[in-house]
Amino acid sequence: MKLEVTGLIKCYGKTRAADGLSLFVEAARVLVLIGPSGGGKSTLLRMLGGLEVPDEGSVVINGRRLGVDEQALQAYRRRNGFLFQQFNLFPHLTARRNIELPLEKVHGHPPAEATEMATQALARFSLLDHADKLPAQLSGGQQQRVGIARAVARKPEVLFLDEPTSALDPEMTAEVLELIQELAEAGQDIILSTHEMGFARAVADQVAFVAGGKIEEMGPPADLFGASRSPLCQRFLSRVMRY
Ligand SMILES: Nc1ncnc2c1ncn2[C@@H]1O[C@H](COP(=O)(O)OP(=O)(O)OP(=O)(O)O)[C@@H](O)[C@H]1O
Ligand SMILES: [Mg+2]
Repeated sequence: MKLEVTGLIKCYGKTRAADGLSLFVEAARVLVLIGPSGGGKSTLLRMLGGLEVPDEGSVVINGRRLGVDEQALQAYRRRNGFLFQQFNLFPHLTARRNIELPLEKVHGHPPAEATEMATQALARFSLLDHADKLPAQLSGGQQQRVGIARAVARKPEVLFLDEPTSALDPEMTAEVLELIQELAEAGQDIILSTHEMGFARAVADQVAFVAGGKIEEMGPPADLFGASRSPLCQRFLSRVMRY
């Protein structure tokens, strides 16, 4: 994917969640956002995904500028996939129905086609055994895998993941991270925020350090983790990598 993000400003009351943020990526498969809590990662992801409109500035993704027209934004959102930290699934629907329902209601696929697509997505991530369970009958890791299966059932242009493993224990985290890595290797463009530094380093083409509503530093993982230039980024990394 190619990204040209210029001068984004987004305020919530007095908080400037994005404060003149610019970001340029020429060609990357996986862009990872890291940085301190409250730094603006989720806000940036939501603006890149068309879930939120910036107060100022522009986002051009793969040569197309995101407008403010709600219909165009909706069409854009439908081409992408999303997964957040938790509460992604409808609790009263089985894993299979969670995948089928948006395919039918949002994307207009006939039921038989939605069933076929859901079966493929479940099979791809070894979830067929869990197809008829409700979210409460699945582990957190399995729930997130179903969430990812749903997000990629229609082959999204970009998959947006906001801290997809932060509510999970280490083993479930590993199972979800492996799945994300598989998707990246299969050619899926991904933008994700994470606090898993080892994973960020392994999977990212580009890592952006987001703090104070800006991109403090950005580069390939070897540069950012190996020899970061920004003192703020160095301090963050030395703290989070200590344990
Ligand atoms: N809907 C909202 N209403 C009010 N303030 C918000 C809202 N969303 C974000 N903020 C504020 O904007 C700032 C950036 O928040 P954001 O959630 O983007 O940070 P983050 O980097 O994702 O943090 P974390 O690592 O904790 O998820 C914070 O100060 C936050 O309190
Ligand atoms: Mg966040």
